[in-house]
Amino acid sequence: MSTATLDLEKVGAFAQQVGALLAGGATTAMMVVGDRTGLYAALAASGPVTSAQLAGATGTAERYVREWLAQQAAVGILSYDPADQTFTLPPEHAAVLASDDSPASMIGAAPQISGLHRRTDQLVEAFRSGEGIAWGDQDPTTFEGAERFFRVGYRNSLVAEWIPALDGVHEKLQAGARVLDIGTGHGAPLLLLAEAYPNSQFVGYDVHPASVDTARQRAAEAGVSDRVRFEVNFCQGYPDRDVDVVMFFDAFHDLGDPVGAATHARRSLAADGTLVLVEPRAGDDLASTLATVPVAALGYAASTFLCTANSLSQPVGRALGALAGEAALREVLSEAGYRTIRRAAENDFNMVLEARP
Ligand SMILES: C[S@@+](CC[C@H](N)C(=O)[O-])C[C@H]1O[C@@H](n2cnc3c(N)ncnc32)[C@H](O)[C@@H]1O
Repeated sequence: MSTATLDLEKVGAFAQQVGALLAGGATTAMMVVGDRTGLYAALAASGPVTSAQLAGATGTAERYVREWLAQQAAVGILSYDPADQTFTLPPEHAAVLASDDSPASMIGAAPQISGLHRRTDQLVEAFRSGEGIAWGDQDPTTFEGAERFFRVGYRNSLVAEWIPALDGVHEKLQAGARVLDIGTGHGAPLLLLAEAYPNSQFVGYDVHPASVDTARQRAAEAGVSDRVRFEVNFCQGYPDRDVDVVMFFDAFHDLGDPVGAATHARRSLAADGTLVLVEPRAGDDLASTLATVPVAALGYAASTFLCTANSLSQPVGRALGALAGEAALREVLSEAGYRTIRRAAENDFNMVLEARP
C-alpha cells in the first residue's frame, strides 16, 4: 500500500489509540497479578508505600513488585511521588480494584479477560470451522471471572431493585416460592435470593459439572444448603412442574436453542408463574448499542469468545449474541408462547425482562 494518500496525522492518532488498547490488554494481565498477590488490597489498606514496604506487607519479591508498581503508575492506576519513591492507590481506584465487596468493583472481570487470551488459538480454529466451543471448555478463569464480575451487579440490584420491580414476585418469595435458575454457573444470584428469602426453595441447573460443584460448595459456605440445590442438567431437561419463578441470569443468550429453553420453562411454570431474563443491556441494533452501551467493546469480545461460541456448540445454534437486545429477546419469547413481556428494570450492565405464559 502506498503511503502517499495517507493522512499521517490520522495514522499517528490511530496508532496511539491502538497503543492504548494494547496497554489495556497488558494491564489486564497485570491486574490479575495484583489481585492474586493481594497487592491491591494491601495498597488500599496502606497509605503511600515504597516497593520494599509493599513487598514486605504482601510476602512478595521486591524486584517484581517494583516493576509492577511502575507499570501501574504508567497506566494511571497508581500515583507516584518521586520525592520519597512511594506509590498510592487513591480510594476511588481502590473501590474499583481492591475488593469484590465494593459496589463499584470491576477487578473480577480481569481474570475473565485473561481467560479469553488463553483460548485465542481455539477461537481462531472455530472461526475457520464454524464449530462452537462449549462454556465448559473455556479457561477456568472464565468461570471465576463470570461469578465475581456479575455478582457485583446482582448484589447491587437483584434484591433491592429487580425483584420488587417484578409483578408480585417479592410477595411470593417472602411467603415461600419455588424458584429455578437455569444456566446457574457458580450460583451467585440464587445464593443472594436464598439469603434474602429463607422461606423459598431454590434449584440451580447448569450443564457444566465443575460449575455445579463450585455452586454447591458456595451454598454450603453461605449456610443455605437447606433451601438451595444445584444439579447438572440441560436447559431443556429438568423435570420440575408448578414452579413460581424461572430465572436466567446472563445465560439465556448463551443457549443453542433459547426458544426450546423458554418453551421448557413455560411448561414448568405454574399458571401464574413468571419467567425472568436478566440479560446484558443493549440496543435493538448495532448502531444504537455502539452509541449507548459503554461496555459494548467488552461485551462483544466476551460474546465472540464465550456466548456465541457456546450457543454454536449446542443443537440449533441460534447464537443470539450477548448484546442481542430487547427486541430479539422478545421475538424468542413470543416464539416460545409467552403472551406478556415487559422490561421490568435495568442497571448499567443488565436489563430485566419479565414474561408470563
Ligand atoms: C455466562 S454464564 C452465567 C452464569 C450465572 N448465571 C451467573 O450469572 O453468574 C452461562 C452459564 O450457562 C450455562 N449453560 C450454557 N448452556 C447451557 C444449557 N444448554 N443448559 C444449561 N446451562 C447452560 C454455562 O455452563 C454457564 O455456566
